[in-house]
Amino acid sequence: EKGTYPHYMLKEIDEQPLVTRRIIEKYRNENGGLTVDENIVNAVNAADRIYIIAAGTSYHAGLIGKQFIENWAKIPVEVHIASEFSYNMPLLSEKPLFIFISQSGETADSRSVLVQIKELGHKALTITNVPGSTLSREADYTLLLHAGPEIAVASTKAYTAQLAVLSILAAVAAYGKGLSLEFDLTKELGIVANAMEVLCDQKEEMEAIAKEYFSTTRNAFFIGRSVDYYVGLEGALKLKEISYIQAEGFAGGELKHGTIALIENGTPIIALATQEHVNLSIRGNVKEVVSRGANPCIISMKGLEEEDDRFVLPSIHEQLSPLAAVVPLQLISYYAALHRDCDVDKPRNLAKSVTVE
Ligand code: M6R
Repeated sequence: EKGTYPHYMLKEIDEQPLVTRRIIEKYRNENGGLTVDENIVNAVNAADRIYIIAAGTSYHAGLIGKQFIENWAKIPVEVHIASEFSYNMPLLSEKPLFIFISQSGETADSRSVLVQIKELGHKALTITNVPGSTLSREADYTLLLHAGPEIAVASTKAYTAQLAVLSILAAVAAYGKGLSLEFDLTKELGIVANAMEVLCDQKEEMEAIAKEYFSTTRNAFFIGRSVDYYVGLEGALKLKEISYIQAEGFAGGELKHGTIALIENGTPIIALATQEHVNLSIRGNVKEVVSRGANPCIISMKGLEEEDDRFVLPSIHEQLSPLAAVVPLQLISYYAALHRDCDVDKPRNLAKSVTVE
């Protein structure tokens, strides 16, 4: 039920702080630490390489999940678009573990990979929002997102739930190997939930940004470096699927290798600047596009902000920044679609779960 909300999408964006807190509770043990089913942790730590398979927004979550697993649990990870995997099956390692990320658990492209790798005798873990879904039933293990039903076609709370669950899985796998994180993940996820709440209270500001940048534009670009690049991919997908604005996400460093040719006077560029180690470089990219006439909207994080930034996120742990940085992008897309009279919850040509290959 969407209650007093005009759209499911807005309701689901607003549920993100609650979902994040629920995930912390669901994956907390009696000592206050984080826990994941022992069989799953063992399967992760027995793998010499992890293959993440997903589509759309779930694929974007996988790209960030790779960072968590590689940085913390020190296991190599490859992330694959489900529909491409069969044609371009990589040479598999000796002890692979497959992780399927799927909100619905019904995506046909992912299922066909699951069938294929099961035939090869490999193990699979499904991370899904829907208990009893096909991908959950057919995999060896399941981790649930606990996000509650996601009705809007545009995925929002499932994405941040996927990131939260992937971070917990990566951390618990690291602990299982005797590795420790440099920070307390439970505490930092709590800070993320608070930041999401602050962001959800800033809807007027997001609406103003949507009006200013996206009222009439035909196209838009999202740039970022490191994990901000991946968040930009997700921001672009959100914008294009519900507002029909042609949007693309790019790695800041790739601009000069072609994309910069597309910049015209007034082209909106959303630049994400939440990562200290690439801050100078991404700001350099902004200067490059501004000198070609782009209309920049810099979204940075407290501590890294500069005078011209259009929006500053509350400070959260740098490695978890995607969980908060995506929230303004979701809201901006929502308002852009609304102002362009688009059907926010049911965009044209799309289905909530894609059950054909
Ligand atoms: O249910 P899944 O997570 O497997 O769905 C994958 C994609 O179809 C889905 O994320 C799609 O890209 C969304 N509409 C994005 O908002």
